[in-house]
Amino acid sequence: MRIRPGLIVAALAVAFAVAATAGAAYLYLGPPERPQQRVAAGQPDIGGPFTLVNGDGETVSAADFRGRYMLIYFGFTSCPDVCPTSLSVMTQALDRLAEEAPDKAKQVVPVFITIDPARDDAETVGDYVGHFHPRMVGLTGSSEQIARAAEAYRVYYKKAEAADGGPYTMDHTSFIYLMGPDGEHLKHQSHGRGPDAITHMLRKYVEA
Ligand code: NI
Repeated sequence: MRIRPGLIVAALAVAFAVAATAGAAYLYLGPPERPQQRVAAGQPDIGGPFTLVNGDGETVSAADFRGRYMLIYFGFTSCPDVCPTSLSVMTQALDRLAEEAPDKAKQVVPVFITIDPARDDAETVGDYVGHFHPRMVGLTGSSEQIARAAEAYRVYYKKAEAADGGPYTMDHTSFIYLMGPDGEHLKHQSHGRGPDAITHMLRKYVEA
């Protein structure tokens, strides 16, 4: 078959158009990002400054955690099921990380923030977190301080009266958040994820 010059011109035109498009995309979008940057850039704006009170009654702010990673969970100490499960998953994940990469594990501070400050005073949260991990930090505060922290992390919570007239309970969002050394949101997991998922997240994001 005879190759027609018109076909070659057309083929070259297509090839040029493809190359030009790819080049323009590279210039416009920049070089491919590393996975960590891509995930960080794609995450919603979660986190920010907070001022709360720890188990010893001391005022603690987000800035006090700079340079370390925070593994944060919001809940309440009289939660029958979901909160204790989530906190023990965090502990199991940290223990696993400590076995395989102690230098990484040391960088991570597990944090529990109550969304029930009316019942969870400093002493209560301090005692509670001690059941889960020796380094876990329990935080409470005034209802305004808790509201601001919850808003920063997009945590929803609401008092729910018990049907039988017993003590009230709390409806609340249950995510485990991983925040980076500059307070940036790296990743979060829903409470149903087991220790494997949390360990994997820590292994991937925490740098020793
Ligand atoms: Ni709960």
